Amino acid sequence: MKALVLAGGKGTRLRPFTYSLAKQLVPVAGKPVLVHCLEKIREIGVREVGIVVGERADEIMAVVNEATHLDLTATYIRQDQPRGLAHCVAIARDFLGDDDFVMYLGDNVFTSGIHRSAAAFARRRPDALVTVTKRPDPQGYGVVDVNTDGVVRALLEKPAHPPSDLVVTGAYFFTPVIHEAVRAIQPSGRGELEITDALQHLVDTGHRVVAEEYTDFWRDTGSIDELLECNRELLERLDADQAGNIAGHVDADSVLRGTVVVGAGTLVERSRLTGPLVIGEGARVTDSDLGPGTSVGRGCVVRNSGIEDSILLEGADVDGLPALRRSLVGRWAQVNGTSAAPHRLIIGDHALAEVAA
Ligand code: G1P
Repeated sequence: MKALVLAGGKGTRLRPFTYSLAKQLVPVAGKPVLVHCLEKIREIGVREVGIVVGERADEIMAVVNEATHLDLTATYIRQDQPRGLAHCVAIARDFLGDDDFVMYLGDNVFTSGIHRSAAAFARRRPDALVTVTKRPDPQGYGVVDVNTDGVVRALLEKPAHPPSDLVVTGAYFFTPVIHEAVRAIQPSGRGELEITDALQHLVDTGHRVVAEEYTDFWRDTGSIDELLECNRELLERLDADQAGNIAGHVDADSVLRGTVVVGAGTLVERSRLTGPLVIGEGARVTDSDLGPGTSVGRGCVVRNSGIEDSILLEGADVDGLPALRRSLVGRWAQVNGTSAAPHRLIIGDHALAEVAA
């Protein structure tokens, strides 16, 4: 089995970050979303990965190359414009050959991975399998209508009147018959080749498509609130051997509680760190109160501040804000405050913000 990871989309709902960073590279719980995806693919034993990339191809390649712990072989497939998920399958035809494959959307977070779908695909041998989950707002997704055995009768893309609350997530398992289906369909109203239409074509031509329900936490990290939710969920599951993983230096005047990770070369002085919390390498935290639910990137500087439920990207510098909540501070952005009031800040890369009392 191979994997096809889609990392070409533009991420317009994650602006301003996606003006300067691919949406799949925004870090959650200390790692780019894409690296979490690739780890989940490696967990099911797949090593040969095709990655569909768009205009931010170079950044994506750099991150995958740096993540040597993944031990995978990556093939990059260029897509000139986001033209739909089924278009990605079409342009990956040479890479995929006649192998079965898992297609994984590079902005999706499945906190407990995709083992159950992989096992169901191996056991039931359908022509295709979609991983579905219950959502209170199915109108915003692909929605399936299934029979009691989980066999799909119909799929609808963002229907006004959903036939169920089971939505299609970003982990699909395919046999090579999908290639005929992606060739048979036409672009949708939004001008894209929809994978939902390709799957419906399989159903209409007598193929067996099954749905496997995923019951743990799943989100696509399309918006800032979704990113922060993913950050919190993933941090809460930091595994036990990471707990107490303090590679940097924490001075005797600092207090640690809960699961805290402090990267190599990081210096923490006179601060309170409350897990779940990850601080990257080469950061400096002074007279501050960090966590829970917070990821502080590599090389960040935090002084006289209190930060909860937030993400600071690489090199961010925060000074003098004792109650920063649910915030996202971009790479090498600088935030200076003289205000003790609670604040929520969404600050793009390289920005400078001064928050007065
Ligand atoms: C795509 C699929 C949709 C699926 C969703 C999951 O939607 O078309 O069926 O439910 O991903 O994230 P898009 O994010 O392209 O609107």
